[in-house]
Amino acid sequence: MEGLLAGKTILVMGVANRRSLAWGCAQVMEAHGAKLIYTYQNERLKKSLHKLIGPKAHAIECDVASDQSLAQAFTTIKQEYGKLDGILHAIAYAPKEELTGKVTNTTRAGFAVTLDVSAYSFLAVAKKAAELELLATSASLVTLTYMGATRAIPNYNTMGIAKAALEASVRYLARDLGESGVRVNAISAGAIKTLAVTGIKEHAKLLALSKERTVDQKEVTTKEVGGACTFLMSALASGVTGECLYVDKGVHLI
Ligand SMILES: NC(=O)c1ccc[n+]([C@@H]2O[C@H](COP(=O)([O-])OP(=O)(O)OC[C@H]3O[C@@H](n4cnc5c(N)ncnc54)[C@H](O)[C@@H]3O)[C@@H](O)[C@H]2O)c1
Repeated sequence: MEGLLAGKTILVMGVANRRSLAWGCAQVMEAHGAKLIYTYQNERLKKSLHKLIGPKAHAIECDVASDQSLAQAFTTIKQEYGKLDGILHAIAYAPKEELTGKVTNTTRAGFAVTLDVSAYSFLAVAKKAAELELLATSASLVTLTYMGATRAIPNYNTMGIAKAALEASVRYLARDLGESGVRVNAISAGAIKTLAVTGIKEHAKLLALSKERTVDQKEVTTKEVGGACTFLMSALASGVTGECLYVDKGVHLI
């Protein structure tokens, strides 16, 4: 198949269901010729993923909160696929109590797990892939962030702090992996109703306000996020690294 990503093998981490940002990205990348490999968090999400990709498609378990699971998943990927041209990291988690009210509600344990799964995991994925020499020259790593990293969004709290750490990780990884030709970028997506978003208190208000503040009052779609992801994975973005690309229809400007 011809396309911007023809001949590229890309790992997609974080499809929970058809509303997932990762699924929008996967569909657009596939339409542009990418061969995709998927990981899922656990057995429950495996079932949900297979409903989308078909029961026979190959997907690998990877719980990013576990070093053992990460090591096992990436060793399997190395053995079965040899090299990757890209990794999409679309993973975040915070306990509900961290996404409610004041940031002073945070706890040591809640903060730790939020930062671990939502920020450290991107470093851990990059580290594993580099260690195993899994990344092809000119491979591209993409993660998903939100403007709660730079603005104090109601109820987003600890996740905003995790996204700030994630965005900083993008810049440090871009510097270090750039030496071997690997690019690292983030997409800051506009608010879209997904499973993850429903964990935020008053998420309906957040979604409505975001929609109202887009330049055309229409919410951004997962396919639009997928378009940006496809660009960042492609050779067209060979000069782009360490960047945070906003795909929110201008919400962060207004
Ligand atoms: N939906 C939005 O409005 C929005 C906006 C900007 C950024 N994002 C980011 O996009 C990314 C994807 O989220 P989404 O909104 O598509 O929601 P989603 O619920 O569809 O996806 C979140 C994914 O994270 C995975 N995950 C959580 N803990 C994990 C673990 N320990 N190991 C492996 N996987 C784990 C889940 O299995 C799920 O697939 C997240 O980083 C989120 O913060 C979302």
